[in-house]
Amino acid sequence: MITEKINTVIGHVKSINGSRISVKLSDDFKSSMPIIDGVVYRMGQIGSFVRLPLGYVHLYGIITQAGAEANPDQPNESMESNFSTSRWISVVLIGERIRDKFERGVIQFPAPDDEVHLVTIEDLKIIYSEINRESSVAIGHISTSESLPAYIDLDKLIARHSAIVGSTGSGKSNTVSIILEAISSNANFKSSRILLVDPHGEYNETLKKYSKVFKVNADIIKHENELNIPYWALPFDELLAVFPGILKEDVLEHIRLEIQNRKIMASKYLEKIPDELSVTTDSPIPFSIKKLWYELDDFEKQVFNKIEIQKGEWEFQMVDRIQTGDAEKLISSQHHPAAPGGGNPNLNKHALGILSFLNGIKNRLIDERYKFLFSPGDYSPDLDGKLNSDLNKLLIEWLNHDKPITILDLSGIPPEIMVSISGTLIKIIYDALFWGQNLDVGGRRQPLLIALEEAHTYLRAGEDSVASRTVQAIAKEGRKYGVGLLLISQRPTELDETVLSQIGTIFALRMTNSKDKGHISSAIQDDLSDLVSLLPSLRTGEGLVLGEAVKIPSRIKFDKIAFAPKSSDPLVSERWVLEKPNSNLYDELLLRWRNRRFH
Ligand SMILES: Nc1ncnc2c1ncn2[C@@H]1O[C@H](COP(=O)(O)OP(=O)(O)OP(=O)(O)O)[C@@H](O)[C@H]1O
Ligand SMILES: [Mg+2]
Repeated sequence: MITEKINTVIGHVKSINGSRISVKLSDDFKSSMPIIDGVVYRMGQIGSFVRLPLGYVHLYGIITQAGAEANPDQPNESMESNFSTSRWISVVLIGERIRDKFERGVIQFPAPDDEVHLVTIEDLKIIYSEINRESSVAIGHISTSESLPAYIDLDKLIARHSAIVGSTGSGKSNTVSIILEAISSNANFKSSRILLVDPHGEYNETLKKYSKVFKVNADIIKHENELNIPYWALPFDELLAVFPGILKEDVLEHIRLEIQNRKIMASKYLEKIPDELSVTTDSPIPFSIKKLWYELDDFEKQVFNKIEIQKGEWEFQMVDRIQTGDAEKLISSQHHPAAPGGGNPNLNKHALGILSFLNGIKNRLIDERYKFLFSPGDYSPDLDGKLNSDLNKLLIEWLNHDKPITILDLSGIPPEIMVSISGTLIKIIYDALFWGQNLDVGGRRQPLLIALEEAHTYLRAGEDSVASRTVQAIAKEGRKYGVGLLLISQRPTELDETVLSQIGTIFALRMTNSKDKGHISSAIQDDLSDLVSLLPSLRTGEGLVLGEAVKIPSRIKFDKIAFAPKSSDPLVSERWVLEKPNSNLYDELLLRWRNRRFH
């Protein structure tokens, strides 16, 4: 219990406006750093707490403003000395304690001239001891007190989504690692499922013990697994976005139908055959893109002789190919050239005029950088669309292994398709869990946390991409299907507002850019938005945590992860001290460039 013997009064309530109160600090409380029970307290700090005893109840509030701005009657007081005007604080009431039980929210309100007390370590212990141990994990300690561990509630964190924001170097990646490690190392969470989309491959080492890493050009020695994303699982628009060039609507429609028909045909070979009427171009059903390319290419190049079959009756007959190509090897068929200026042989008058687009497709199909997409190992269909391994196996690989975390390391993916691929990945996984919602492997039975590092790179505000659409859908309704989001970004202004407004818990680390701060304040509960003024002064690895996963808005110093996440970019100073390499290697370089291969 709190003893009232020690004088902890720091001031008195002067005005009340809902849960926001203005407090004038007592003049007789001379020191701004009182010492109570041997502990030094800093008085009137933004982000720290105060206590207001009201009979049996103690109200708790957080200081959101301090100094002259917190004075409700600034003009009248302006004649007083600076010292006097600065001794005001604004407080937002956040919870109340009856005996030793702390609850969020207040039912009673103070009256003018009520006492306002400093919050001691003993008070804090009571507030923070009210946690549900089963659903909470420790991620650091309360900034003002090394001895108080800081817990977050996983049920709230995951079901209501969360975001970690802060300037570069403020400690976001470390915070992610600490949270994920805290979950993964908890033996009770046997079937925890976390998917971390990692554009820079920072986490492979950091979370090694708890994760299975999928990466393009995986390093087997480092126990990485090859990341395959079968092109046929992409929705039509996303698949087309991989190829350069823009097509006219009628051509698009033609290709759409071609793919749909091929998917219908190939669906007959699947182990469980889907209903034909539900198959669309967007269905995750295989088809051979090589064969599609080959046949479209052949069609464009066909030539026809106009022949009189009966008197006055003419017909176009296809001229035999000079040489038949090979779809598997991406070799075009050879056709006779059309006669210049009309006459036999004639060009195919039904041709779509898409030879340069088809050339673009071929370039992608042979490009080693796109191998993860167009030659996805066992998930590559043959020319008839028959598969060795279907998507269920891929989903098992990704979502049902012996480690709690799956890292999808996208560092090997060409930047021009990063946005589309990362979006598609999230979509494949969300769609799978959405349609599996009534099964034990769905998200309701086994929830999934999707953590998106550098979320601003693929979730640009206002952009109509598959990533934004899917993340918006998860933000709005993921809770119903057991899918939670953890967004990490250094540029919160670029994050979509609809998504940000659905975030239940925000970890705001050091942030200096005023635009970003403004954006964040809009995602924070209104009366606490003044707290953003605290953000520029936070230390590295320290954050203001607001929202549902914490008992009260808390300033937390996160623990430091043992193996710090590091970017895989080479260090210039380490490289430039080495001997120069042999210039013969440029021969090999040129060959690889021409072959579009890395090996
Ligand atoms: N809680 C902490 N305690 C001590 N040091 C920390 C803590 N958190 C982060 N650091 C250190 O600060 C540096 C930056 O951390 P981190 O890489 O997590 O920042 P970031 O916000 O993810 O940066 P970026 O925007 O560049 O990705 C690292 O060297 C890290 O070791
Ligand atoms: Mg980082």
